[in-house]
Amino acid sequence: MGLSIIILAAGQGTRMRSDLPKVLQPLAGRPLLGYVLDSARELGADDVCVVYGHGGDEVPARFSGAGVRWTLQAEQLGTGHAVQQAMPETPDDNQVLVLFGDVPLLTVSTLRKLLDATPKNEFAVLTVDMDDPSGYGRIVRDGDKVIGIVEQKDASEAEKAISEINTGVMACPAGKLKRWLNRLSNDNAQGEYYLTDTIAMAVADRVTVHGIKASNWTEVMGINDKKQLAEAERALQARLVDELMANGVGFADPTRVDIRGDLVCGKDVFIDVNAVFEGDVALGDGTRIESNNLIRDSKLGAGTVVHSNCHIEGATTGENCEIGPFARMRPGAELANNVKVGNFVEIKKSTVADGSKINHLTYIGDTEIGTGVNVGAGTITCNYDGANKHKTTIGDNAFIGSGVNLVAPVEIGRDATIGAGSTITRHAPEGELTLERSKQTTIRGWKKPTKSGAS
Ligand code: UD1
Ligand code: CA
Repeated sequence: MGLSIIILAAGQGTRMRSDLPKVLQPLAGRPLLGYVLDSARELGADDVCVVYGHGGDEVPARFSGAGVRWTLQAEQLGTGHAVQQAMPETPDDNQVLVLFGDVPLLTVSTLRKLLDATPKNEFAVLTVDMDDPSGYGRIVRDGDKVIGIVEQKDASEAEKAISEINTGVMACPAGKLKRWLNRLSNDNAQGEYYLTDTIAMAVADRVTVHGIKASNWTEVMGINDKKQLAEAERALQARLVDELMANGVGFADPTRVDIRGDLVCGKDVFIDVNAVFEGDVALGDGTRIESNNLIRDSKLGAGTVVHSNCHIEGATTGENCEIGPFARMRPGAELANNVKVGNFVEIKKSTVADGSKINHLTYIGDTEIGTGVNVGAGTITCNYDGANKHKTTIGDNAFIGSGVNLVAPVEIGRDATIGAGSTITRHAPEGELTLERSKQTTIRGWKKPTKSGAS
């Protein structure tokens, strides 16, 4: 029996008050629907169909290459109608699992439990107990078996008191589902074709309906507005941080960190408050991330320390580097081992070899720096002539004095020393002192201006 997964993602999401379709709203930096597609893939479905509508082609376009089929539900006439759009191409022999594009935190293990409880020709719905079930479809049971689901708007007082609710997620045989969907009517309080009505039909056809409870509300929560989106964000962050702590990563405060992507950590990593990780980040053994750092798509070697308030993107470091406080590493910044990058230093598309130091107020762009180099405070590479970028090369053990402009293309020889305040436009030879300075002048008897009456 093959598995077909149908994901409902056609709803408008009016309450988001956003131009972005609901299922494209970001959770930990990725669209909601992405999480559901991941689960579908992990379950090994033979066939995944996404029913889309609101937002039009923007939704399929965002997931082009996802290897799923897309079915348009032009008018949102209800969850039953939505599933029906996906049925013609679904093989009768398959088991169908219905998921929702706005329910991103559902775990694969809970879904496996649901599928395992659904032998061929039987039906299973995923439920959850709620302290306040108002607004949700209530589960009506007869012992172990579910005998009906009553929507809030159609529920009696006694039914409203039931705390077990329908999450909307269900599994059943495709052939039977097709027949039930064809018999749905929209004669109810919302004038919609309710998918949940198929459960009553299953009961009437003497098909067993199992009610499987999810482990908690968080994993089944549907996201309808920005408040719920923020709630889901916190829940997901807690999950990610728990996993990292279980693997030995230390956090000063697990509630004050954000992971938007994949964070892979070695042993004895410590992360202080307000660190944000985006994209693919790898932290080697013993790295320490101090407070207030953004680190995106970067790889930091073992023993590296990032002091407070740095912005690091597309960078790599070797072992035992020290960055910041207040440093900016831009794409293509590559530090070897034992490199120091200090405060108010920006490095872009440059390599810095072992043991070199760039400690204060410096811009390094399109540069190759050798080993053991010292770059003085306030030095910049002038890599851009207004039209093109040019390269600077600094040889091993060179000493660049403070306040130097290196006008690229330019090459500084190994062991060269550049005098403070120089503007270097030509090759500075190996082992020599090169400097460029206008003569120092003193104007004798010069008077300071005095403040005039009016101003
Ligand atoms: C549904 C269930 C309810 C359950 C609740 C849990 C039905 C009739 N009711 O109610 O029992 O407690 O979910 O959240 O199924 N959608 C479409 N096309 C449509 C209508 C909906 O794609 O024509 C999608 C929406 O985008 C949404 C999901 O289906 O993601 C749920 O639809 P919604 O109308 O919000 O159902 P609920 O009233 O929440
Ligand atoms: Ca809803």
